[in-house]
Amino acid sequence: MKKIAVLTSGGDSPGMNAALRAITKLAASKGVQVFGVHEGYEGLMDGNFRELTRVLPDGQVMVDIEVDAAGGLGGTIIGSARSARFREAEGRAQASMQMAKRNLEGLIVIGGNGSLTGAHFFSRESGIPTIGIPGSIDNDIGCTALALGVDSALNTIVAACDNISDTARAHRRAFVVEVMGRDCGYLAMASAIAVAADAVMIREQGKTEEQLVADLANVIRNGYARGKRRILVIKAEGVQVPCTRLVRLTEDAMRADMPTVEIRATVLGHVVRGGNPSYQDRAIAGRLGFGAVGALLRGATDAMVAWLPPVPGGMPTEDSSVMLFPLEHVLAETAAVINGSSPVTQRRLALMEKATGVLAL
Ligand code: F6P
Repeated sequence: MKKIAVLTSGGDSPGMNAALRAITKLAASKGVQVFGVHEGYEGLMDGNFRELTRVLPDGQVMVDIEVDAAGGLGGTIIGSARSARFREAEGRAQASMQMAKRNLEGLIVIGGNGSLTGAHFFSRESGIPTIGIPGSIDNDIGCTALALGVDSALNTIVAACDNISDTARAHRRAFVVEVMGRDCGYLAMASAIAVAADAVMIREQGKTEEQLVADLANVIRNGYARGKRRILVIKAEGVQVPCTRLVRLTEDAMRADMPTVEIRATVLGHVVRGGNPSYQDRAIAGRLGFGAVGALLRGATDAMVAWLPPVPGGMPTEDSSVMLFPLEHVLAETAAVINGSSPVTQRRLALMEKATGVLAL
């Protein structure tokens, strides 16, 4: 291979730029030119490419200085998008034509569930070798212990909860903090343990609005009865009841026995998705980036590089922590993680169940 393309797609995540840097460096070291695609699959269909390498007069391939400097930045310097057009076969055919026109022989896609689904169909239909890298703060991608951005997002949540805890303790208040995670409560669960929250609310528990209100009221009553000054409940975005509504309904429900109770709602939203990548995200990005280029150059396709897979079935790479999984397998496992049938989700829920009683102490 002489020329490959790379794109970032779907919700951005810290570590995407670090992966771009690693991909470009390894490819350059093998004499392969790298073209970044602007705005994800939209740019692939529209032919919106930019070279991330530079070829010197003596034929050596060098890394663009902006790419080199961007490794420590959040977001993605080549832009991202959620593309409805790419879900259609015509869109994918147009993208394949744009790549062929430029003699681009391989593609690396960094993104989440929807992006990897696009990569699977694209590789099958176009025959262009395509490798995925999991990138999504939600950690809802199957076959990988972590996706790019998860660790940074957790650090951001922990820092925010520390700040909230200071003011909560000052006023003896209860807080419900909502964190991102549309289909998967991983961020809520993992951060709840790290900040010793009193409880966690995630979609996977399948609770009704009534149950959530009753649970929240009980956690607050028990917390104050134990003399706590801070009561902190972490709620995942995937729980359908909006934070402010949950708080209002719970205050109403507690009016009779605790008329002065004060509950505050904080929605962290996109704050959680931005910010410079943590050490761990940079390290994983570097190693998955190397793994993806290595896989492409060895002739692999329709596959994803995974970090310390929690499920069996991957193929080894040069890096003992990075395994290669067929995208079909990854997408089936992702669906299972989201619908709760995966042993990974069941283990997470069982662990959370056990931790809940302890956290409330
Ligand atoms: O990337 C995943 C995610 O951050 C989800 O947690 C969240 O529900 C969604 O993206 C938000 O998407 P958007 O930025 O398009 O509003």
